[in-house]
Amino acid sequence: MITNKLSKFFAIEIKNLDLRKITSKETINIISDLLLEFSVVVIRNQNITDDEHIKFSENFGTLELTKVGTDGSGSKLIILRNFDENGNIVPSTDRQRLNNLANQAWHSDSSFKKIPSKMSILSAKMIPSLGGNTEFLSMRASYNALPQELKLKIDDKICWHDYSHGRSKIDPNLVTPEEKEALPPVKQKLVLHDNRYGKSLYLGAHCRNVDGMSNNDSNALLAEINSYIDPKKFVYSHVWEPFDLIMWDNRAVLHRATPIKGKIQKRLMVRTTVAGQTSTINEY
Ligand code: OGA
Ligand code: MN
Repeated sequence: MITNKLSKFFAIEIKNLDLRKITSKETINIISDLLLEFSVVVIRNQNITDDEHIKFSENFGTLELTKVGTDGSGSKLIILRNFDENGNIVPSTDRQRLNNLANQAWHSDSSFKKIPSKMSILSAKMIPSLGGNTEFLSMRASYNALPQELKLKIDDKICWHDYSHGRSKIDPNLVTPEEKEALPPVKQKLVLHDNRYGKSLYLGAHCRNVDGMSNNDSNALLAEINSYIDPKKFVYSHVWEPFDLIMWDNRAVLHRATPIKGKIQKRLMVRTTVAGQTSTINEY
C-alpha cells in the first residue's frame, strides 16, 4: 500500500487502493491501524455506490442508523447536500443549509450519544470549485500542548454533551422538539486515553459544560484549554477531489466543514458512521 503523510502531526493518504476489491481481513487491519495511528485516512479515487460504501464501512464495526431530523434518517447513510430533489440550491435559511452551517463548528460526530461514534467515513460526490474544504484538528497534539498542571487538573473531568447546545446557537428553532426528546444530554470524559497512542481532548460543539462546576468556572476552564489549541499547527485542511473518501477517528480529532467560496455551488457528501463499542465513562 502506498501511503503519504498529509501534515506534520497526523493524517495520511492511501494512493493505490480500490476498496471494492478488498478481499482480505489483512488489508482492513492495515487501514484500521493507519486510522488509529494517524487519526485521518484519505483514500483517493473511490467512485463507489452507496452499497459499496456501506459494505466497506461495515468491515470496521456496526453502523449507526441516521437519527431523526437528518437527511437519510433511519438508514445507514447521512446525506449532506445544499440542494433539493429537483437539484435546486435551497435558500440559506433552509434546514439543510443551516445544518451545513452547524457543521462549520468544530465537532466530533455523535459525541451527544452515550456510546459515541468510533469513526466516520465520508465520500465526496459533488464538490464546489472553491472552498468547502473539510478541516481536521488533532486532539492528541492539542492535549500534548497543554501545560502539565492543566493536564493534571482536567484528567478526571467529565463534560455534558448536548446536541441542542451548538445547534441552538445557529438558530433557536433548528433543533426540533422531536430531536430534543430523542437526544437528551450525555456525559463524556474530557480526556480520552488510547493505550497505544496516548491521550486526547474530547470536546467540540456538542460539549456544553464541565460536570460539577458552576457555569462561570466551566466556561473559564474550557476557554483555558482552548487557548492552547493552535488552530493552524494542529489542523489538516482537506481540499476535496471528486471521489475522495475520508475516514476519521472521532475520538482523536475534531472536524468541521468550511464555507463554499464565491458563487454558491452544489455540494453532495455521503457519510457512514461506525458506532463505538464502549462509552467514554463507566457510569452507564
Ligand atoms: C460530517 C461533517 C463536514 C463537511 O460529515 O460529519 O461534519 O465538510 N462534514 O461536509
Ligand atoms: Mn460531522
